[in-house]
Amino acid sequence: MAARRAVNQSRRLPDSASIPLVSSLHPKSRSTPLLSVGLVLLGAFLLIGYSYSSSGGLASDKEAIHKGEGASCTSEVHRAIPFLKKAYGQTMRKVLHVGPDTCAVVSTLLKEDDTEAWGVEPYDLEDADSSCKRLIRKGFVRSADIKFSLPYRPKSFSVVIVSDALDYLSPKYLNKTLPDLARVSSDGLVIFAGYPGQQRAKVLELAKFGKPVKLRSSSWWIRYFVQTGLQENEAATKKFEQAASKSSYKPSCQIFHLVS
Ligand SMILES: *[C@@H]1O[C@H](CO)[C@@H](O)[C@H](O)[C@H]1NC(C)=O
Repeated sequence: MAARRAVNQSRRLPDSASIPLVSSLHPKSRSTPLLSVGLVLLGAFLLIGYSYSSSGGLASDKEAIHKGEGASCTSEVHRAIPFLKKAYGQTMRKVLHVGPDTCAVVSTLLKEDDTEAWGVEPYDLEDADSSCKRLIRKGFVRSADIKFSLPYRPKSFSVVIVSDALDYLSPKYLNKTLPDLARVSSDGLVIFAGYPGQQRAKVLELAKFGKPVKLRSSSWWIRYFVQTGLQENEAATKKFEQAASKSSYKPSCQIFHLVS
């Protein structure tokens, strides 16, 4: 809405006042620069409008995620759990998962020995099934907007795993959310992100809802981590990759291991 109003104003500016007056005084010489100033302004407003709509549009993604359940990086988390256990060993004892379908991830993790698990659902939990409702009632799962600080004390969890959530945030929000995920973990932060160009039913579904998910390349992510001062957890990365290659496990998502 804001964008539309701004555009109208910028149109009115050259049309109603300046151009007729100026061009009648200086038939050719002055009207062109003014017109281009008007066009530049119009362009600027359009750009501002676009960046607003692309940074704040989580509401429509919410629905898309629920409708498009199926192949996702959250399902990759289930497959990666045995390898994560090898990589993190003893430290994988208090785990927080952040992402859609977190109830399923928490249930899977709770079945592991010596693992406590909690979940944050970044979208909504309205259509939770009965076992999910039980997890919510017991306080294991809650919904929270990950654009804001998570309601946990520093180092509340040993390992924090996030999937299908950061791909929907613009760098502006990533700048707040990623350090906050690192804040609540003590032994590591594991990020599951989609590969760019990944052709999935879900991605197509999202495109239908207006704003497609931003799938970033691994070089984009690595540059971003360096920029924001987040370090790769080299030991965990190495152990994870060794365990994965031993079992010929090839994740269908990018997996990054960061130091908390
Ligand atoms: C995010 O943080 C980095 C490093 O502090 C900074 O260079 C970058 O401009 C920030 N991006 C946004 C969109 O705020």
